[in-house]
Formats: sequence, structure tokens, C-alpha cells
Amino acid sequence: MWKTIQPAPPDSILGLTDEFRKDQNPSKVNLGVGVYKDDTGNTPVLRCVKAAEKELVEKQLSKSYLPISGDPAYAQAVQGLVLGGASEVIAAGRAVTAHAPGGTGALRVGADLIHKFSSQAKVWVSSPTWANHNGIFGAAGFEIERYAYYNPESKGLDFDRMMDDLQRIPVGDVVVLHTCCHNPSGVDLGQDQWREVAALAAQKGWIPYLDFAYQGFGDGVNEDRFAVEQFAAVGIDFFVASSFSKNFGLYNERTGAITVVTPSAEEAAVAMSHLKSVVRTNYSNPPAHGGLVAATILNSQELHAMWLDELAQMRNRIVEMRKALVEGLAKQGVEGDFSFIAKQRGMFSFSGWSDDVVQWLRDNRSIYVVGGGRINLAGLTTSNIDYVCSAVADAMRR
Ligand code: LMR
Repeated sequence: MWKTIQPAPPDSILGLTDEFRKDQNPSKVNLGVGVYKDDTGNTPVLRCVKAAEKELVEKQLSKSYLPISGDPAYAQAVQGLVLGGASEVIAAGRAVTAHAPGGTGALRVGADLIHKFSSQAKVWVSSPTWANHNGIFGAAGFEIERYAYYNPESKGLDFDRMMDDLQRIPVGDVVVLHTCCHNPSGVDLGQDQWREVAALAAQKGWIPYLDFAYQGFGDGVNEDRFAVEQFAAVGIDFFVASSFSKNFGLYNERTGAITVVTPSAEEAAVAMSHLKSVVRTNYSNPPAHGGLVAATILNSQELHAMWLDELAQMRNRIVEMRKALVEGLAKQGVEGDFSFIAKQRGMFSFSGWSDDVVQWLRDNRSIYVVGGGRINLAGLTTSNIDYVCSAVADAMRR
């Protein structure tokens, strides 16, 4: 069967991690995949997660199947976090949530659900966007278009061009928006800008599909849901794909959720019936462990407080590394103004390093950066920052 078939190219992000693992250089640094690391370079199991797991091991009586959409306590916890506990959407019952395997799984389940009824719709993604958005929506059968987002000259948001593009998107098309911590640029919309985008969505009738993979990595758990609140306020249909991979460090437990918000509780019930059929034909029902851990933490006052504290530590360390990188590059005499790195939010920044520099760093210094120059700031530590800055200086000087 495979004799005449060409191998597929490696994944642009996870393929890089495979290469990094094989690299024997003891000084190697992975600034590729979006995984948090502490200052020792380790991706820790959060203390609140360990405590919840301990509790679960004691209490768990069965590993029988979960409902198709997952544990209702998990769905409730997700809605409280993503929409805000006091949200009118929750009180009115106009949202439904299914546990999906990670943020990627959530995006795909939502994409399949939309495709079931709107196969002719186009999906609009920001330029640039997370590479896998193209893969996920393409695999679900959608044609993909781009709207303007990042301005490489200003290293900031091109809001005017973005709005021009969003104005032209027809009713029923789907617009993927990064709720916070834009991947790959680290450039987010401000509050007034989000209000404008939500009003435009209501006016034009396109469907917002919010990718909310980094809640808590921007300004804080509550602050980061600002965009979600604006779409909730205008009373339209929208989707939220959320993930506990980053903010709970539950990467390999594949703990995400798809939330479908509709104008009424009746419509939400219809959406859930079809959501269940999409899940049933994909993976039947979700894995339990990560969802149980997240719900246990979110429903315990003590563990919840511990989580917020640990999340703040992760967020603050990344901010420190942003500053250290800007200072380190200046100290090494690297030409150019890199102050934009300190202004961006979340794990990522578009470094502005060319593909040639990216390749040189990998071949000569075992420093792994995603093509296009996206760097994960959490891969930097106080021990490797000088090594990275001097390598970048060498790469630029050639
Ligand atoms: C990333 O962008 O690096 C993360 O979201 C991990 C992934 O699955 O690509």
C-alpha cells in the first residue's frame, strides 16, 4: 500500500521537539513547542495537580465510561472559568460544553460540528496563526482564508486592516480569534478593539470561533476572558475551544473543552445533541483523568487558590524572561530594537529572526526555534539566557 506514497513532512512544531530530543549537545535549548518550563528547564507537575491526584486515587471507585460529553462537573467548572461564574450565559443556560482531548481536540470537534451544517462556509484565520489551525480546519473539510493581523514593521497589531478584512467576511463564515496570548505573535487586541470586533460580528453575522488555550498567561484568569465576555454580551452564536494543557500543566492528559454559546437555551440543547453525535463518531467519550483533576481543583477553595498562585508564578517568570532577553540582546550588541518582546503577552514572541538565522541557531548552537521566528519565552532560563543571546549575536554577525 505504501510503496508509491511519499512520506508526509514532519510537523512544524512537534517535529522540532523530536529533533531536539535526538540532539546530543548538552547546551541545547528548545524555544519551539509551547510548553512551560521552570527556571531549571523542567516542565513541572503543579502542586495543586499532585494534591488533586492524590485525592482522586483515594476516592475513585470506578473507571467506567464517562458520558459522551464528559463529566457534567467538569463542564460546569470549564464554563465558570471560561465565561466567568457570574455570566448571564450560564444563568440563561445558553451554553453547552463537552470535554474534548486537549485544545486541538476541542477545535476539531467544533469544526466537525460546524461542517455538519455549514460545509460551504469558509474559515478565516489570522495572518499569521498557529500552524495547526490550517491543518485542523482543513481536515474538517473547510476552505481557509486569512485576515490581516500582525504588522511585521511595527511588530504590533494591524487593527485597521484587520477590521477592513472582517468587514468583508460574509454571514455564516467562521472567524478564528485568539482570545489572549496570540500564537505565534504574542500581540493581542486591546479592550476597545475587542468591543469593536464583537459588535462587528453581531452586525455582519459571521461566527466567532475563539481559541482560548492560554487563559491566565496574559494578565490573569479573569482579565484574559475579556474577549469572551464581549461576544457573550452581544447575544450571538459563537464557539470557544479551551485547554488546560498550559494553565494546569496537564499537557499529556489531553484536557480541553468545546463550549458552544447560542442565543437561547433551546438552541443550546440542539447544539449539544449534535455535539454528542460528533464526539461519539470520533472517540466515543473523553478520557477522564485530566478533567477530574481540573474539576477537583476548581471546585476546592484551597486548591483553587494554590492553582492561581502557581499560575501567577508561571506568568511572572515568562515576563522576567522577556525582559532578560531584551536586555541580553542589547548587552551582546545585537542590532535593532527588541523592546517589543517585553510588551507582548503569553508564551510566544515573533523574534523577527529570519529563517536563515533560525536554521543557523539550530545547526550551530542546538537552539531550536519554530520556522518564521516564533520563540517560546518559557524555554529561556537564567542559566541559558546568556548562551542564547550570544548565539543570536553570532548568528546576526556572520
Ligand atoms: C504550540 O503552539 O507550540 C502548542 O500549542 C503546542 C502544539 O500543539 O503545537
